Amino acid sequence: MKAVEIKKGIYWVGVKDWNLREFHGYTTSRGSTYNAYLIVDDKVTLIDGVKEPFTDLMMQRVASVVDPEKIDVVVCNHVEMDHSGALPAVMAKAKNATLYCPPAGERGLGAHYDTAGWKIQTVKTNDTLNIGKHTLTFVQMPMVHWPDSMMTYVADEKLLFPNDGFGQHYASDELFDDGNLDVILDEAKKYYGNIVWPYGAQVQKVLEIAATLDIDMIAPSHGVIWRKHIPEIVEKYKLWSSYGNVADKAVVVYDSMWGSTEKMAREVAAAWQEKGLRVTMVSLKHSNVSDAINAIVEAKYVALGSPTLNTGILPTMGAFLTYLRGLAPKNKTGFCFGSYGWKKDCQQEMQDVLAKLGWHLPQPIATLNWRPTVEGLKAVRDAASAVVE
Ligand code: FEO
Repeated sequence: MKAVEIKKGIYWVGVKDWNLREFHGYTTSRGSTYNAYLIVDDKVTLIDGVKEPFTDLMMQRVASVVDPEKIDVVVCNHVEMDHSGALPAVMAKAKNATLYCPPAGERGLGAHYDTAGWKIQTVKTNDTLNIGKHTLTFVQMPMVHWPDSMMTYVADEKLLFPNDGFGQHYASDELFDDGNLDVILDEAKKYYGNIVWPYGAQVQKVLEIAATLDIDMIAPSHGVIWRKHIPEIVEKYKLWSSYGNVADKAVVVYDSMWGSTEKMAREVAAAWQEKGLRVTMVSLKHSNVSDAINAIVEAKYVALGSPTLNTGILPTMGAFLTYLRGLAPKNKTGFCFGSYGWKKDCQQEMQDVLAKLGWHLPQPIATLNWRPTVEGLKAVRDAASAVVE
């Protein structure tokens, strides 16, 4: 395992996790990467680590450049274990190293590991550390997406290490953003929607700070390194963090028991397509909640459909609503529908969740009894059309 030089004397020493398919409930069909970086300067500096099982692979990459015992500085931008898992081994090996992190990082590391004997120096926003030719500047970014989250900037190299920010769960054959930009941006959107979406205000503050920095490379802790398409990903972060939408994007998320609600879902999609919208349909029977979230991040219109089951809705939709509530997306226009047998209006449960999120809900729930008739489907279509009007 060799380190890969990304700038003179600065190396990627991370690991590609090609086989990762699940990340606490988030499906990672393209795997992921844990990006750690090594700066060889007067003080040898490691920026972040990798997930614990990949520690040896990271150490091999470090050792291809410098003896890991010679690491002087460890920067922990984020305590979550996909980055900090390797740090106990690093700190055991590099006996003279000092670890730099914010106060919340020190508390977090102490909560997860036996840090007795570690030399830890806490830092705050605008603190700097000279490591020789380079100077690191630390910028705290609390709740993007943990309390301890921080980014590290190397001004003389115009290089930003924003940890999870701008990341993607994407193991690619490219180290940089030179590959298929549509795929990279879609994975960045999925990452944002499923991990960072609740923290729009905090992300906006980070973007304000980042706008004052001279940056020609953004090296996140997951996925490809940005150097060619920095304006594109920054624009996307501005859109997503401001809860902006693409005006003609719409999504119908649904599940069905015997096909009636699916017929209604297709009717809603058709009505919206006739209104000139680009509609994606996501069946929760076939797709994970994280894929549904990716579909709706930029959508202005979102319809949710479930039949009645007992006195409620289908568990797939219940799980989706729980997940959605946690991510708390704002500024959407919603529409809820579904079929029922003998227990009417259970679809109100979906409508109530969307109302609590503050979504615009121009129409009441649309329900049909048992098997949809032509007239019934027309009523659903008309209601869906009125949502767009
Ligand atoms: Fe990639 Fe929040 O850890």
